[in-house]
Amino acid sequence: MTTTASTSGVPVVAHIDAPIEPYDLDAEIALALTRVQHHTMVTRHRLAATYQIAAFAERSGLRGSFVECGTWKGGASGMMALASVRHGSASRDLHLFDSFVDMCVPDETLDGEIAVAQARATPGLTGPLDGTLRPMTGFYEPLGGHGTPEDVRALLCDEIAYPADRVHIHEGWFQDTLVPARESIGEIAVLRLDTDFYAGTLYCLESLFDLVVSGGFVIFDDYGCYEGCRRAVDEFLTTVTPPHFLNHIDAEGRYLIKR
Ligand SMILES: C[S@@+](CC[C@H](N)C(=O)[O-])C[C@H]1O[C@@H](n2cnc3c(N)ncnc32)[C@H](O)[C@@H]1O
Repeated sequence: MTTTASTSGVPVVAHIDAPIEPYDLDAEIALALTRVQHHTMVTRHRLAATYQIAAFAERSGLRGSFVECGTWKGGASGMMALASVRHGSASRDLHLFDSFVDMCVPDETLDGEIAVAQARATPGLTGPLDGTLRPMTGFYEPLGGHGTPEDVRALLCDEIAYPADRVHIHEGWFQDTLVPARESIGEIAVLRLDTDFYAGTLYCLESLFDLVVSGGFVIFDDYGCYEGCRRAVDEFLTTVTPPHFLNHIDAEGRYLIKR
């Protein structure tokens, strides 16, 4: 630890103000980011953490699939695929879930101010903010539109050359697709939840958490961003024993290691 004198003369720990240092696996991550950047809305820190976690899963021989709920155009899933190519043998099954329409409406009693403000700013919003599975048409327009299975395949199978028979795209609302897919998913090594709102997040945890192997990872992309996501995670984790510590990725992202 290095200390320097502050203006008040009281020594301060120098590393608090230090610039962000390179990530572990920095060069690989920088390259991976250039390959997925047009397919993702996720921050650099969270993409880097996703890569590091998937790489660790490969190097340590963790059993199970890589799963993402909320893929949009496939960028974060692409980071897991790239880590699997580089640190494994690209033989992980990737199970990718998304409605591939615009985001569903939030529940104004559960999802918090940011979600409500974003919903109200959406031109195609109709009806109450009651958390029902109705797409808010135009929600992703500022980002070039909602994702499609073709966007995801173009990145994973064409650009990254991940084996197409290992890429399983489950199109539809989580509430319709997750439970029927449980058997085909089997064990999960990494579960990445990028689901934004309360109902979807809670449903994903209730449907898939038990499939995550001991020592496996659950990544929460939106914990620090959407109140509903945080509420769902906190609520779900109170039902799990032993307790799980949420590790910090950045202001919004968290992950846990299943005990
Ligand atoms: C923030 S985006 C995902 C971003 C993506 N991981 C990336 O790399 O940029 C959230 C995605 O979750 C999907 N989604 C949210 N709730 C859903 C639900 N209940 N069922 C299916 N898809 C849902 C949305 O359609 C959207 O594509």
